[in-house]
Amino acid sequence: MVAVPVEHAVSVFARVFADVGFEDGLWIARAPGRVNLIGEHTDYSEGFVLPVAIDCDIVIAFRPRPDSRVRLYSSNYGQRSELSLADIAPDDASPWSNYFRGVAQALSDQGIYRSFGVDSPAGLDGVIVGDIPMESGLSSSAALEVASAFALLAASGVSPRQLGPECADVRREIALACRRAENSFVGVACGVMDQMASIMGRRSHAVFLDCRNLECQLVPVMEHESDVALVVYDTGIRRELVESGYNLRRAELEKGAEMIVDVLNRPDTQALRDVGPADLEAVRDLLPPTMARRCEHVIGENERVLRAVKALREADLVTFGQLMYESHASLRTLFEVSCPELDRAVDVARSVPGVLGARMTGAGFGGCTVNLVKRQAVESLTNELARASGLGPSCLESTSRCTQAFVVEPADGASIAEVAPYMVQALAGGGV
Ligand code: GLA
Repeated sequence: MVAVPVEHAVSVFARVFADVGFEDGLWIARAPGRVNLIGEHTDYSEGFVLPVAIDCDIVIAFRPRPDSRVRLYSSNYGQRSELSLADIAPDDASPWSNYFRGVAQALSDQGIYRSFGVDSPAGLDGVIVGDIPMESGLSSSAALEVASAFALLAASGVSPRQLGPECADVRREIALACRRAENSFVGVACGVMDQMASIMGRRSHAVFLDCRNLECQLVPVMEHESDVALVVYDTGIRRELVESGYNLRRAELEKGAEMIVDVLNRPDTQALRDVGPADLEAVRDLLPPTMARRCEHVIGENERVLRAVKALREADLVTFGQLMYESHASLRTLFEVSCPELDRAVDVARSVPGVLGARMTGAGFGGCTVNLVKRQAVESLTNELARASGLGPSCLESTSRCTQAFVVEPADGASIAEVAPYMVQALAGGGV
């Protein structure tokens, strides 16, 4: 994958905001996408997940403003959008800007500005660029939310040190504000995994996240086995979370969990992650069959995450890979969020020697698979996937499907930095 050129963001800024200039330098907020290794559809029921932040980012190049106006330009959409932080409303004409708007609102509502002593938040002029494939399940929206939060806070004088990786509590609050933005402004009842991964990620590590208390443990993922790579395969099937069955699945699951917790009636059983397979069998007959299957997936998936973390710590990638296959099977047959293209991609991967595991990643209904592969087998895997898709690695115009396979590296979570004027000059020379 081509790394997001900060140069690109800066040179677009120079063109779009020629009226502002950057004599005083610019700020760069960066937030990565994520790929989830295992633990799917478990985050919104207090479960366990194991994502990695990846080396694809959303970057916002910006300059703070002295007033509360925000002028944004999205390079991916080729569109501008403006708002006032004093009166934030969603904008149907530029839906991409709603992520930013929602975050600005949530930072206020959640008291985060106030916690930094900011009474009236400052606006900014900013350009958004990114190289995370959109709507493919790699969390480009969460990355946009997180980058927006960092940009907004820095514009109001919060220093990079106050937002640094050691400030875990602040970062957790920001992740929650970003999730809130997506829930209320965009209308997706998502969990908090994507935002947490984008903020808490660390180079060469996966983030083992307990979604009950938001505690994170970083687990080395590529250090002891650097002959192993993570390959993402984008099926090109795009799904809009809002229109997909995501909210429906979540509702089904919540209802099921409530019923099980009620019937079991134990003080230590508050959510599905407290329910074991035997408990489910004991109450299965009381649940509608579909609901029981949804719950069965989540109960099994939570267990798989715990086993996967243990395997990773013991450098047992064969077991880890098996758990990935099991996770996919469960998502396909029990939770029913896979699709034929994802299933095919997993079957193809399984047939390639050197592939240790593969599964769909993210919400499902399209999007990507993630593959754990011996490095020497990466090329055979990508060739096989291209052959099987029948499309090759590029877009086929007649269907507008676009498949691609690429290696991702576990990357650091979000960051913010000020770029000095002389650096900005040098970067802007990089061409628009
Ligand atoms: C989407 C949501 C996450 C999570 C996954 C499924 O990515 O944003 O919160 O629920 O789907 O695991």
